[in-house]
Amino acid sequence: MEKGLKRSCVMVVVSFLAMVHVSLSVPFIILHEIGTQCSDATISNFTQLLTNLSGSPGFCLEIGNGISDSWLMPLTRQAEIACEKVKQMEELSQGYSIVGRAQGNLVARGLIEFCDDGPPVHNYVSLAGPHAGITALPKCTRSGLLCDVANGLGNETVYSDFVQDNLAPSGYFKDPKNVREYLKGCKYLPKLNNERPDQRNQTYKHRFTSLQKLVFVLFQNDTVIVPKESSWFGFYPDGDFTHVLPVSQTKLYIEDWIGLKALALARKVQLVIVPGAHLIIADEDLVNYVVPLLEDQVSAAPRLNRKTKEPLHP
Ligand SMILES: *[C@@H]1O[C@H](CO)[C@@H](O)[C@H](O)[C@H]1NC(C)=O
Ligand SMILES: *[C@@H]1O[C@H](CO)[C@@H](O)[C@H](O)[C@H]1NC(C)=O
Ligand SMILES: *[C@@H]1O[C@H](CO)[C@@H](O)[C@H](O)[C@H]1NC(C)=O
Ligand SMILES: *[C@@H]1O[C@H](CO)[C@@H](O)[C@H](O)[C@H]1NC(C)=O
Ligand SMILES: *[C@@H]1O[C@H](CO)[C@@H](O)[C@H](O)[C@H]1NC(C)=O
Repeated sequence: MEKGLKRSCVMVVVSFLAMVHVSLSVPFIILHEIGTQCSDATISNFTQLLTNLSGSPGFCLEIGNGISDSWLMPLTRQAEIACEKVKQMEELSQGYSIVGRAQGNLVARGLIEFCDDGPPVHNYVSLAGPHAGITALPKCTRSGLLCDVANGLGNETVYSDFVQDNLAPSGYFKDPKNVREYLKGCKYLPKLNNERPDQRNQTYKHRFTSLQKLVFVLFQNDTVIVPKESSWFGFYPDGDFTHVLPVSQTKLYIEDWIGLKALALARKVQLVIVPGAHLIIADEDLVNYVVPLLEDQVSAAPRLNRKTKEPLHP
C-alpha cells in the first residue's frame, strides 16, 4: 500500500516535470566564403552582429585550416568535415540554423543533404550562394604561393580529376556550352543539385525539403557570382549564353530535383534582392530578412539542477 502510494507520487512528479517545457533559442552556424576564415575581423564581426541582433548563439564553423583549405579542399571533403563537426558540437544537438556566405552555401547544402545522422537543421539563410553554378572561377588575389597554385589550377582543364580534387570552386563551375562534360566530370554540384538523371537521390531531396524556412539573398551588384541569378538558382539554359533563366523556368525547379518547388509551394522560401556588391549587406536588411530566421525558439525538456531537481534557466 505504502509502496504503491510512493510510486504514484513519483509518477505525478515525473509527469509534472515532463510538462514543464522551456523555450530555447535555436543556435546557428556561419559558413564563410572562399578566401576567408572564422578569425578574420569581417567574419567574426558578422557572427557577433547576428548573435547580437537575434539573441541566439552563433558559431562560425571552420573547415580545415581556413583560407587555404577554402580554396584547395574539394567541397565533398569540406561538407564531410562540416558534418563531423556539427555532430560533435553539444550546442547544436537539439538542432540549429545555418547562414551561408557565397561558397559556404554549397558546404551548407552539403551538410543539409549529405550528412547522415546529423542534428536537425531548422532554417537556412543563403547570402550570395552560387547554387546553380558559376561560369567564371573566382580569382585569388592575395600575393603568395596559395594564389599561384589556385590561379594556376584555374588555368587547367576544369573538369579533370586533378583540378576537381584540388580546387574547391571547380566543384561548381558549370559551362553552359559543355553540360555533358560538366555532368561527367564535375564532382560536387551535379550531385548536390540531383542533376544526373540516373543518380537522383530522394534522400537529398527529402532532407532539403524538411527545412522550415529559407531565405535566398541576391546582391544586385554582385560581380563575383556569375551569373548573380545563381543565388536564386537561376542559370543559363543548356548550350546558351545569351540569357539567364529565372529559377521558375529551370528543370531543377520544374521537375523538383531537390525539393525547392515543394518548399516554395509550402511558402517556406523567400527570395530577396538587396542593393550592393558581393556580400555587402546593410544592418537594416539583416534585421528585415536574416534575423527573423535566427530568432526562432524551440521548446525543449528542461535540464534539471542535479541537487534541487528544478529546471535550470537557459
Ligand atoms: C568590427 O566591429 C567593431 C565593433 O562593432 C568595429 O569597431 C570594427 O570596425 C568592425 N571591424 C570590421 C572589420 O568590420
Ligand atoms: C555585440 O554586442 C557586444 C555587447 O553589447 C558589443 O560589445 C559588440 O561590439 C557587438 N558587436 C557587434 C559586431 O555588433
Ligand atoms: C592563368 O592564365 C592567366 C590568363 O591567361 C594568366 O594571366 C595567369 O598568369 C595564369 N596563371 C598561372 C598561375 O599560370
Ligand atoms: C542516397 O543517399 C543516402 C544518404 O547519403 C544513401 O544512404 C543512399 O545509399 C543513397 N541512395 C542511392 C540510391 O545512392
Ligand atoms: C551598383 O552599381 C551601379 C552601377 O555601377 C552603381 O551606380 C550603384 O551605385 C551601385 N549600387 C550599390 C549599392 O553599390
